[in-house]
Amino acid sequence: MPLLSSPRKGRRLIIWLHCCGTLLAHSCTAPGNCVSLPCTFTPNIIGKCNRACNALALLQTVAAHPETRTPFLEAEIPLYLFPFLKTTSEAKSFEYLRVTSLGVLAKVDDTEAVKFLLKNEVIPLCLRIMGTGSELSKTVATFIVQKIMLDEVGLQHICATPECFFEAANVLANMVVALAEQPSTRLLKHVIHCYIRLMDDPRAYAGLRTHLPEALRNGTFDNCLRDDPAAKHVLQKLLDKLAGPTGGAPHPCPGPAAGRSHGGPAQAGPSHTP
Ligand SMILES: *[C@@H]1O[C@H](CO)[C@@H](O)[C@H](O)[C@H]1NC(C)=O
Repeated sequence: MPLLSSPRKGRRLIIWLHCCGTLLAHSCTAPGNCVSLPCTFTPNIIGKCNRACNALALLQTVAAHPETRTPFLEAEIPLYLFPFLKTTSEAKSFEYLRVTSLGVLAKVDDTEAVKFLLKNEVIPLCLRIMGTGSELSKTVATFIVQKIMLDEVGLQHICATPECFFEAANVLANMVVALAEQPSTRLLKHVIHCYIRLMDDPRAYAGLRTHLPEALRNGTFDNCLRDDPAAKHVLQKLLDKLAGPTGGAPHPCPGPAAGRSHGGPAQAGPSHTP
């Protein structure tokens, strides 16, 4: 796909992408509105959902391709997706648009892309969806947050202030509680990966020692993970990491066994050693 073999073709691509974005923003009076204001979707856009989703599928390809990713970001095309991400309707067609839009953001995964997502407040947007969306949109939103965290810049951003960290930690903890009621192995796996990555930051690690949901430590998910050795392994990795870096933990720590014993509620302990 030699789309960018010449500057002219590059410009053409950008124009094409903006047309695509404008099509997506169809129900707003002007595309500019969509970028900054949460626009209200009228019922008639639902009829156009399929077309919008086709355009979004194309955008996913553009976002994923190494040759087109940079112009895709430079032209700020992801901003066209935000109105879809901000919708809260539970109607199927809106859910479909949200998931497909998240799918576009999920394709961008280098530092440059992470900076773009941070600058445009994608984390609060994803956190909201993680708290309210369907299982599928929660999974994709968590996946995006996980990808952002995996980048050093992203992790630093989330752990920059206690407010920011605890906002993310609370959303994750609420998800764990919800998952105990309504299990989803794939979603749980992404949540655990987020916790594991957060622990790479010393302040976040200290916070999670006392704030990691009990359900992750007391065997609540044993059943859910029984048929998924990889997921089980990931949970074990989290518990090992929580227990300390070298195995020789300096104070009583909730190993998986201790956490499971009924008489001893797993406490992370008051210690704040990094
Ligand atoms: C594990 O912890 C959760 C949350 O505190 C609690 O609801 C659940 O009953 C516990 N399960 C076991 C087996 O102790």
